[in-house]
Amino acid sequence: MSNLYLIHGDRVAIRPVCANDYDEITALTRDSAELHHPWVPRRDTSREAFDDFIARFAQPTHEGLVVCFRQTGAIVGGVNINNIVRGSMQSGMLGYVAYASTAGRGYMSEGLRLVVQFAFTELGLHRLEANIQPTNAASLNLVKRLGFRREGYSPVFQRINGVWRDHERWALTADMLSAGPHEWTA
Ligand SMILES: CC(C)(COP(=O)(O)OP(=O)(O)OC[C@H]1O[C@@H](n2cnc3c(N)ncnc32)[C@H](O)[C@@H]1OP(=O)(O)O)[C@@H](O)C(=O)NCCC(=O)NCCS
Repeated sequence: MSNLYLIHGDRVAIRPVCANDYDEITALTRDSAELHHPWVPRRDTSREAFDDFIARFAQPTHEGLVVCFRQTGAIVGGVNINNIVRGSMQSGMLGYVAYASTAGRGYMSEGLRLVVQFAFTELGLHRLEANIQPTNAASLNLVKRLGFRREGYSPVFQRINGVWRDHERWALTADMLSAGPHEWTA
């Protein structure tokens, strides 16, 4: 088990993404083109673009994490907490992907649950937001399973692969976790 893990569950763990992940993530991303389109912007798979991606997480406003099999360390997903706002907001915006060969088995539910725990404890955040296209059933299922609340609808919210797409805004706040029953059934 890697000592880079920030926190682990039964099957998966999370750790910061790093420059050495380039080959593994690039291969996984190429294999997952169909799964990822049209839900997330197509990723430039060049080494330079990956280095830029990693550099983003040197800023306090962004956290880049990978979800790994706890025992082998193989990467099964990625979660970014983007646009972290401190002060009176303490909020961040989530971006996440599973990879095709391991999707649909509950690993992302477990991994995103760990990210939520990490964000609300270690990072001290109060609110995590996820913006999801209304027809992205897998992503909607994921946030519902973790107890997120639908807050609203944002027309033409994000340009993904050339098209401005509407998104639903979902969020989880720390008080919702302490308030009572929620589905932590990753
Ligand atoms: C959204 C996305 C990350 C969800 O990933 P996922 O692989 O479906 O998530 P999980 O690993 O938690 O798998 C959940 C599914 O596994 C099933 N499953 C199987 N075994 C399971 C287990 N032991 N525990 C929990 N769930 C299990 C669940 O029933 C669930 O299926 P359902 O959604 O039909 O109910 C993935 O579909 C993806 O990468 N999509 C493209 C990118 C994207 O949309 N990103 C988000 C943009 S907002």
